[in-house]
Amino acid sequence: MLRVGVLASGRGTNLQAIIDACNNKMINARVVAVVSDKENAYALERARKHGIEAYYVDASDKEKHERKIDEIFESHGVELAVGAGYMRILSPWFIKRWYGKLINIHPALLPSFKGIDAQRQALEYGVKITGCTTHFMDEKPDHGPIILQAAVRVKEDDTRDSLAERILKVEHQILPRSIDLFEKGRLVIEGRKVKILPGDSWLEKYSYPDVFYSEGY
Ligand code: GRF
Repeated sequence: MLRVGVLASGRGTNLQAIIDACNNKMINARVVAVVSDKENAYALERARKHGIEAYYVDASDKEKHERKIDEIFESHGVELAVGAGYMRILSPWFIKRWYGKLINIHPALLPSFKGIDAQRQALEYGVKITGCTTHFMDEKPDHGPIILQAAVRVKEDDTRDSLAERILKVEHQILPRSIDLFEKGRLVIEGRKVKILPGDSWLEKYSYPDVFYSEGY
């Protein structure tokens, strides 16, 4: 069973989606530790409710913050680290230590709309299609090799929040699926690309109408 460590800064609905996918056996994994840079992040409360070790790690000193995360993850035997709404940029030191077993979810179709509030960026740019991306983290933010993407239609009457809500539901599908593919050993990083080895698909059992999923979902 894959041991997963999660980094989260906020309300933790992506964390919840991972926990739920583990509990309903959609993925052969277990969240063994959740770390936040925000003491009152609801993600920590979600972890506690599920009996998962929850850690607030002060981030005023970046190096100490990251060394503590590394120490916590190592002590729990974390095999895959997941950024689930973790709003800090991890240093090259951390990325080097975890590269290849550190993934992230971004609420846009990278490389479009990197950085914060990608949903608002997309809406204000006027795109008609946006979506979400999972990727391995590398030394540049929102830049590493892409695992899965899913495209979501922007509606004429969308607000930032209505669009974010629609994307979030799809994030809750592709992030657990990315963990599932990792656990199955089906992700092979080849330079800038991620090759997904053949196997099952979630399309039949867990997909929304009007959403276009990349190969491998
Ligand atoms: C998600 O939209 C994620 O893509 C972005 O921040 C949001 C986190 O939401 N990085 P949650 O904390 O998982 O609910």
